[in-house]
Amino acid sequence: MSSADELREQVRAKYAESALAVMDSTGDGCGCGDGACCTDNTEGGKFGETLYDAEQRGELPDAAALASLGCGNPTAVADLREGETVLDLGSGGGIDVILSAKRVGPTGTAYGLDMTDEMLALARQNARDAGVGNVHFLKGLIEQIPLPADSVDVVISNCVINLSTDKAAVLTEISRVLRPGGRLGVSDIVAEDTLSAEQRAERGSYVGCIAGALSRAEYTAGLEAAGFEQVEVLFTHEVADGMHGAIVKAVKTSRPAEKGLPVIQAAGAAGCC
Ligand SMILES: C[S@@+](CC[C@H](N)C(=O)[O-])C[C@H]1O[C@@H](n2cnc3c(N)ncnc32)[C@H](O)[C@@H]1O
Repeated sequence: MSSADELREQVRAKYAESALAVMDSTGDGCGCGDGACCTDNTEGGKFGETLYDAEQRGELPDAAALASLGCGNPTAVADLREGETVLDLGSGGGIDVILSAKRVGPTGTAYGLDMTDEMLALARQNARDAGVGNVHFLKGLIEQIPLPADSVDVVISNCVINLSTDKAAVLTEISRVLRPGGRLGVSDIVAEDTLSAEQRAERGSYVGCIAGALSRAEYTAGLEAAGFEQVEVLFTHEVADGMHGAIVKAVKTSRPAEKGLPVIQAAGAAGCC
């Protein structure tokens, strides 16, 4: 196993533990034990269901709110419209998929993608409890999205891209599945540009959503290289010294040739060769 595969396996195991804790109703909402979840490794950092307003929490089953491990509220920034197709990368217990499904209504569709079986089981249960039918939870990697090219209007994600061991692949895949002009609205942890990779790792663990965070300049450059424009990275709250919960917004260019970008082929379920 490569070190990237080992890191991904650590991430999967931690979030499986977290999902089981919520399903057993024995945990405090995280269940990661040793301070290794997104929600509990920073002092005073805001994570989880507190980032949703009372109205949104009222739309959710208790277990979906309890399972929230995000660092923002992407549904609040994504400006979802009736009839749209939305994809949530790393959907966890399903909180943002359920809220998105309600926003896009019965003529729209909300997909959740996650690699962890236990999270998928929790999300499917939460969607049933919420009574939303226009949702589909897919098992897979955000580095190899199992959807066709140009099939999604909006990609959202909440505190997951920092956990990827291949961020360039994630951004390229987001660009592939979005229709031209499609939108990205992501919450994530982002470092100030002055922090080196070592300094980020000193501030928190990889599975805890800190050590793997991109800087603002890295995020912006990565999105532009993947074919996005109107890129914005806005810090919302500090979660550790020089590290922030952030909103990342961008639009997939409808003029790839002008930007000298390669034509992206539909890669299908396998994502790549
Ligand atoms: C910090 S939790 C966030 C869950 C959810 N977005 C929320 O706001 O509650 C991270 C989730 O992303 C999933 N995940 C992490 N890396 C992934 C990857 N490379 N591919 C697919 N899922 C991934 C984990 O299984 C976990 O459910």
